[in-house]
Amino acid sequence: MKELIQKLPKAELHLHIEGSLEPELMFKLAQKNNIAIPYKTIEEVKQAYNFTSLQSFLDIYYAGANVLITESDFFDLTWAYLLTCKAQNIVHVEIFFDPQTHTKRSISFKTVVDGITKALQKGEIELGISSFLIMCFLRHLSEAEAYETLKESLPFKEHIIAVGLDSSEVGNPPSKFQNVFEAARKEGYKIVAHAGEEGSSTYIWEALTLLHVNRIDHGIRCDEDTNLVEHLKNIQMPLTVCPLSNVKLRAIKDMRNHNILTLLRKGLLVTVNSDDPAYFGGYLNENYEAIVENLDISETELKALIGNSFKASFLSEKKKKAYLGLLS
Ligand code: ADE
Ligand code: ZN
Repeated sequence: MKELIQKLPKAELHLHIEGSLEPELMFKLAQKNNIAIPYKTIEEVKQAYNFTSLQSFLDIYYAGANVLITESDFFDLTWAYLLTCKAQNIVHVEIFFDPQTHTKRSISFKTVVDGITKALQKGEIELGISSFLIMCFLRHLSEAEAYETLKESLPFKEHIIAVGLDSSEVGNPPSKFQNVFEAARKEGYKIVAHAGEEGSSTYIWEALTLLHVNRIDHGIRCDEDTNLVEHLKNIQMPLTVCPLSNVKLRAIKDMRNHNILTLLRKGLLVTVNSDDPAYFGGYLNENYEAIVENLDISETELKALIGNSFKASFLSEKKKKAYLGLLS
């Protein structure tokens, strides 16, 4: 099945571009931009990536992002991710970025979007990888700050397909951002939100009913509520699940306990993604491999998961059909 994972074209729908910052590039950019980082060696970095919760990861992840300063830094970061996609036969990506992580440090919105967008355009032309960009609001910040970010995004609307919600989940429910998401929808953005990663299933209900999401990111805690599971199945709401991330951040104890296959068998539209691959020990194919190695999944089910990555994407129906045709 490992060969099949490598061979089949795939889409990735839950990837934080800042979470693809490999230690080697972090060191290089730290040196170039004269930014202090709390590690002397790559070994030390890897030791620090021993997380106990989402917050313990976020603290290190935001510190790492401090090395990103210029447009070319954002370009190099994105280009490195796309080269890995090419190597893993990922043909379509929908990637997140966190503008507030950078604008808070006086890096302009334009610097960030231009760097990422130029790499995505080059990726489309030279690597044949299609892409969409999703801007996330940091949920530990206020709704007023999210409004500011929404306003800043408007000149770049042609480059951004959706608005999402990430960062520290517990204590920052979707309801905190109901108004700004309504404004984002009125601007024509699609909507996604992290919900039910560490937070309870009520956060998933809120994302559905208050934010009117097109996709739920993670969503693994839906299994606490049988009515919710039934509802997610009935409306075929995509869940962008990130298996290695869930185990690394201890949302799930062990890969053998992961509920992705159970949810697939119940008829939910679950997909496989890498979240923050530089921090969690694997890109997309390694996430599929972890499933194959630890869960009793058939080849047909593996193909269904891969097919779901296209079905759940923001691609046109015509393009979805073309990609799905390659899987049969
Ligand atoms: N930002 C980057 N990765 C995240 C995750 N897994 N959950 C919430 N916010 C994030
Ligand atoms: Zn995420």
